[in-house]
Amino acid sequence: MNFYVMTLFPEMIEKGVQSSILGRAGQNGLLSVEAVNIRDYTEDKHKKVDDYPYGGGAGMLMQAQPVYDCCRAVQEKIDAKKGGGTGEKAKVIYLTPQGKTFHQGMAKELAKEEDIIFLCGHYEGIDERVLEEIVTDYVSIGDYILTGGELPALVMIDAIARLVPGVLSNETSADVETFYNGLLEYPQYSRPEKWKGKNVPSVLLSGDHKKIEQWRLEQSEKRTEECRPDLYKKYLCRKNLAEKLMKENKVLYVDMWECLQLDKGEILYDGEEGAVVWNREDELLMMAAFREEGAEKIFQYMPEYEKELQVILHQEFLMPLMEEKYRLTEIKICKRAAYNRKTPLPVSKEIEIRQLDISYTEEILAHYHLGSEEYIKERLLNGCMFGAFVEGKMAGFIGTHIEGSIGMLEVYEEYRRRGIAESLESYIINTRLSKGLLPYGDIIVGNEPSFGLQRKLGLKITKENFYWVVAFSLHLW
Ligand code: ADE
Repeated sequence: MNFYVMTLFPEMIEKGVQSSILGRAGQNGLLSVEAVNIRDYTEDKHKKVDDYPYGGGAGMLMQAQPVYDCCRAVQEKIDAKKGGGTGEKAKVIYLTPQGKTFHQGMAKELAKEEDIIFLCGHYEGIDERVLEEIVTDYVSIGDYILTGGELPALVMIDAIARLVPGVLSNETSADVETFYNGLLEYPQYSRPEKWKGKNVPSVLLSGDHKKIEQWRLEQSEKRTEECRPDLYKKYLCRKNLAEKLMKENKVLYVDMWECLQLDKGEILYDGEEGAVVWNREDELLMMAAFREEGAEKIFQYMPEYEKELQVILHQEFLMPLMEEKYRLTEIKICKRAAYNRKTPLPVSKEIEIRQLDISYTEEILAHYHLGSEEYIKERLLNGCMFGAFVEGKMAGFIGTHIEGSIGMLEVYEEYRRRGIAESLESYIINTRLSKGLLPYGDIIVGNEPSFGLQRKLGLKITKENFYWVVAFSLHLW
């Protein structure tokens, strides 16, 4: 991912990104941050970039010409890098207290871009006409006034960069993070056990992991309720719906449960007839109808979406209603298998299993044909793919999909019937369990070898089928 920062103080940006994680990511080629000096583009012979505002008033304004030419030069550079003439334009974000307030969801959205241009204002602002010409987004980092946009740009770069796959090490990767549930952090303690007469809470010294987890959750809840009642209210709504879904059908609704637990989604509807949850991170809509009567009501809560929409319909009777409103271009009929026990599965010691890195992209693509190169790379960078090795050679692999289901299982022909699939799946089930998640997989109806494996490992399989569809609004078709 590439950031370009248009500024009058390039050294502020350069210094800000040299150190720590951002610096390392830059050296690894995962990120680049280029500070572009607006002053280099002025046509004024004295290198002036500012002037008085028409109509009077305090201070000076940055003039339109240097800002415009600087931006064009950056856009042209990006275009040339892509081979030229693409017509695609990178986002231009103007940092201003008048913009939309920056938040984690915005960072996640922006992390999907390949190139982002920031425009940092100074003095009393920038001539409105150039902003109208070039800016795509106005963003503020909070309700206070800084002397310029450089610090806000650095704040945004830091928050966005850590979400780019591979920037954080695998242990700290946002995707592999242990239980994030939208609550504030619980209090933490390190050595010594006693400091200024204050003791570390005794539960943390007990070695009882279950009790520790419980204590941490209670502390997080208490803090959130006290400090951020707004977040706490949302958390309770998610928790209530997650519990309701688990009561209805623990295996079938595990996807919705996980999305709510990890605070990856929004509840669009929660009522007697059913529920609609929008997984905003993975852009996936999940619909559950608790009974057939009145099921059409939940369709009123579909999001407005101008692109193709990935939808999981948990009931067959929702399909005709869906087809009335959408054009379906792909339909997969699946059953869901979930591992409902807490005990880890045994993994054969004879097969070495380890996490795969980006260097395995080609090998995986040669054996697995249902995912694009970009998708597989993203999964590898996020530490979500594992390989089985026999005498040093890869014999097969497995992974977790972006929304959390286990899949992409392949064992090469010559290594089959040796228990490798079993070991790979047991291994990945154990890693999911250790993160407090419910391991599950979606299996296309008819894939008997996979159903056999799930049964053998003790996973519960839904009686009902559910539907994965790709839908387009009829008005877009
Ligand atoms: N420029 C000055 N203050 C700012 C703020 N709070 N957010 C973004 N840009 C700014």
